[in-house]
Amino acid sequence: PATAHKTESGDLVVGGLPLADLVAEHNTPAYVLDEDDFRGRARAFRDAFAEYDVYYAGKAFLSVAVARWVAEEGLHLDVCSAGELTVALRAGVEPARIGYHGNNKTVAELRRAVSAGVGRVIVDSFQEVERLAMVAADTGLPARAMVRVTAGVEAHTHEYIATAHEDQKFGFSITSGDAFEAVRRLHEAPGVELLGLHSHIGSQIFDSAGFEVAARRVLGLHARVATELGAVMPEMDLGGGFGIAYTTQDDPREPAQLAAELTAIVDHECRALDVARPRLSIEPGRAIVGPAMCTVYTVGTVKQVTLDAGAVRTYVSVDGGMSDNIRTALYDADYSCTLAGRRSDATPVLARVVGKHCEAGDIVVRDEFLPGDIAPGDLLAVPGTGAYCRSMASNYNHALRPPVIAVKDGVARVIVRRETEDDLLATDLG
Ligand code: LLP
Repeated sequence: PATAHKTESGDLVVGGLPLADLVAEHNTPAYVLDEDDFRGRARAFRDAFAEYDVYYAGKAFLSVAVARWVAEEGLHLDVCSAGELTVALRAGVEPARIGYHGNNKTVAELRRAVSAGVGRVIVDSFQEVERLAMVAADTGLPARAMVRVTAGVEAHTHEYIATAHEDQKFGFSITSGDAFEAVRRLHEAPGVELLGLHSHIGSQIFDSAGFEVAARRVLGLHARVATELGAVMPEMDLGGGFGIAYTTQDDPREPAQLAAELTAIVDHECRALDVARPRLSIEPGRAIVGPAMCTVYTVGTVKQVTLDAGAVRTYVSVDGGMSDNIRTALYDADYSCTLAGRRSDATPVLARVVGKHCEAGDIVVRDEFLPGDIAPGDLLAVPGTGAYCRSMASNYNHALRPPVIAVKDGVARVIVRRETEDDLLATDLG
């Protein structure tokens, strides 16, 4: 987190609280969330994108407390499942400020979303067009819809998190004509209010070229709909995906710069197509919560392994692993880590931080230089774990998922408690 700093004695202070103190009370592993940092990033997007609606993408990390912070900071909320919708409603988020995503929403889920009064449902298939029209007819409530379109852009990110090239499950293809057809059907469906087009090109993106191509294609369709169907859609969503720095090599943009770039791209295309600019929205998740959280672990074992070339790698095993951060194993993601709790001036050694799960791919930090005297009982902090770590955490090997502890002004508050063995046994009916 931006507010984190090391003390003279080597401890890491997050949100005004030394991690050693936090661990003494709450144990490890734990996710530590700096509330001011989260709110600051939310506000930075809100302010930079003042003319847009900013939807925080809850899939990155969502809890009742976080949903409240999002609402308090003036952001909207993007949910992509019934479970996330439940958390948002429990937090008291105004339903009209919620967007509901998903490529396989059931009739029951759509009915619940429409009955709750969500502000928009992002429609992702022809079956869903019919389901939504049916729900609007059944409930007599307005169903506000956006059409998820595939812009055909190859975003330069890991294949599994890139979503706008053609051969993947999300959205309607613009090129094939499916997107226009979906718009036409929704436009004609009684009870459905068509808000606009939605495009999300991928995640952890640093360069705006992908957004530029996507905006051009999506606005092209937007203009065609106006001409051929006489439907002027009032809104357009450009998605999320703004990258953050996991290592010193990553160079993310500030929200103000992003806003300037995106707006310039859209304005340019609107002028070229001679259409009025629709009200824009974006959906950042990672860029808001990612840097605001770190994970703190306790070192359990340290082992020296001699590599083929004769070099030595120090394997440092911590009390968590791929069950609380799957991203290294799944995407080859790059994390760093630092010794917390004490100061060491020992010569750094090349280390790999691994978890305690039963597979060799259970790596948290692939390569890091750590003090050569690293030993069992030491605390390690991994920064930048706010996005897609707790939200993708699992109970692999019957691991207990760690708590999320919010810190602010030196005070810790558990916002998601640590799981217990009773939690594991509660679903096991014997
Ligand atoms: N909007 C839509 C429609 C999305 O599908 C996503 C992410 C977002 C917004 C937010 O993207 P963000 O700003 O957080 O990059 N598990 C992967 C990331 C998957 C992203 C899925 N969709 C990871 O850990 O990198």
